[in-house]
Amino acid sequence: MTKTVAETIRDVLKEKSVEVDCFYCRELEALTVKSYDCLIAGGPTMAFRPSMGITEFLNNLTSGEFSGKKATVFDTQLQMLVSGNATKGIEKKLKSLGFDLFKSPLVVYVESKGKGTWQFKSGELEKAKIWAQEVAKELSA
Ligand SMILES: Cc1cc2nc3c(=O)[nH]c(=O)nc-3n(C[C@H](O)[C@H](O)[C@H](O)COP(=O)(O)O)c2cc1C
Repeated sequence: MTKTVAETIRDVLKEKSVEVDCFYCRELEALTVKSYDCLIAGGPTMAFRPSMGITEFLNNLTSGEFSGKKATVFDTQLQMLVSGNATKGIEKKLKSLGFDLFKSPLVVYVESKGKGTWQFKSGELEKAKIWAQEVAKELSA
């Protein structure tokens, strides 16, 4: 589900003529991140916090190397009173690394289809598209 959100954001940015690449965080190294003007980091909420993959990726970035670089954040999560929120943890880490969080995060709600499968709640992908359009606008300003 998180991959679909990432690809949706990528596609909207492309439509808006923003140059963009989309990676799994395990494919990305700090050096690669440094060569971009903006990082849009996301992951699923797992056990009330960002998943292991995005956490390990962020932990491998070195403080001070990203000062002033733009970043924004998204996650996928359940819509419950107590579900945790990966965006908060990702934002906190990016802020401590010096990133400029230029836009409030995108939370995309999913629901269970049973047997360990998930679907987007109604309207959530459309919400992601609108968020990505706003990101494109801010990056192009
Ligand atoms: C082991 C496990 C723990 C999870 N913990 C949470 C949680 O604490 N809060 C929440 O909102 N969703 C939780 N979820 C639901 C995930 O957020 C959901 O599976 C994910 O957003 C789907 O995206 P993905 O297909 O990219 O993993 C959990 C799912 C799994 C499998």
